[in-house]
Amino acid sequence: MVELTDKTVLENFVAHVVDQNPMHVNFITSALGRADADTLQRLNQYLDYCLSNGLDMASLADCYNTISRDTFREEMYFRSKKKYRYSKFSEVAEAVYFNEEYMKKYMYGLALTSFIWPNHVAMHNFFIATFPKGLTGNYLEVGPGHGYYFMQAASLGNFEKLVGVDISPASVALTRDIIRHFGFDRDRQIDLREADFLAMVATPEPYSCIVMGEVLEHVEEPDRFLRAIAALSGADTHIYVTTCINAPAVDHIYLFRDPAAIEQMARDSGLTVVDALCVPYANHTLEQSLAKSLPVNVAYVLRRS
Ligand SMILES: C[S@@+](CC[C@H](N)C(=O)[O-])C[C@H]1O[C@@H](n2cnc3c(N)ncnc32)[C@H](O)[C@@H]1O
Repeated sequence: MVELTDKTVLENFVAHVVDQNPMHVNFITSALGRADADTLQRLNQYLDYCLSNGLDMASLADCYNTISRDTFREEMYFRSKKKYRYSKFSEVAEAVYFNEEYMKKYMYGLALTSFIWPNHVAMHNFFIATFPKGLTGNYLEVGPGHGYYFMQAASLGNFEKLVGVDISPASVALTRDIIRHFGFDRDRQIDLREADFLAMVATPEPYSCIVMGEVLEHVEEPDRFLRAIAALSGADTHIYVTTCINAPAVDHIYLFRDPAAIEQMARDSGLTVVDALCVPYANHTLEQSLAKSLPVNVAYVLRRS
């Protein structure tokens, strides 16, 4: 049993994670040992936010361990079957997106991985580095999930209005909550919609920034999402999209097998790649990761062609 003495919030979190999941000790110790000061500061800030919001340390550790364990189980399935367990939205929707308890656990856990898993940290840093600071106009995020990136966009940009569209009621609630906690609803217009992005109609004014993190692998027809983003963009819109390759999770249904296929899909959808980050599997090159069908993460800055 973990003893709550005068340890720091982060030490307490790690102690609870390891208490519940002893096999994870080497991974989390090494990942946090290599983390930069900004990432650790953001992790502490996120833990504080969660704790001030009624979650206790044991449940936060449970959120994080749930995503770690579920991802590991899906990786075992993928290694033997060479495909994701599910390929249809209807096969995962009730168990994940419309299951409030599971979805909240999954989303808090996913947000925590952005500060801990080295591949997710790299993607998070790329989001910040490429974000056009102080950008005005209107912001759109597709599938904000836990809402952390939505909140960060509100802080990095100077948008008049921020729109978030997510199919999961739990995700909309989490995004609304983090925005309220950090006070961004006081001086910005915040419009959070519980809806399927594909049902969204094009606005007369294009968005100045569109972000869609970790959604393409969750949908049956990712090309339709990219085409819809192109339709909502102007020539200068900053478009940021992330996805993954050979990276199973409980609700990943569209399997990309290499970055070239994603980039071709983007071009065919009317988008041009202006910047890219490719994060191979740990201690492997991209070629080795692809040859062994190991997980790879990718992030793109795009422009309408
Ligand atoms: C894995 S989370 C991504 C969270 C966050 N964007 C990130 O990068 O960490 C995927 C989100 O996409 C949402 N989503 C899935 N299909 C969607 C759709 N058709 N329209 C809108 N949101 C969708 C899910 O409900 C979930 O909140």
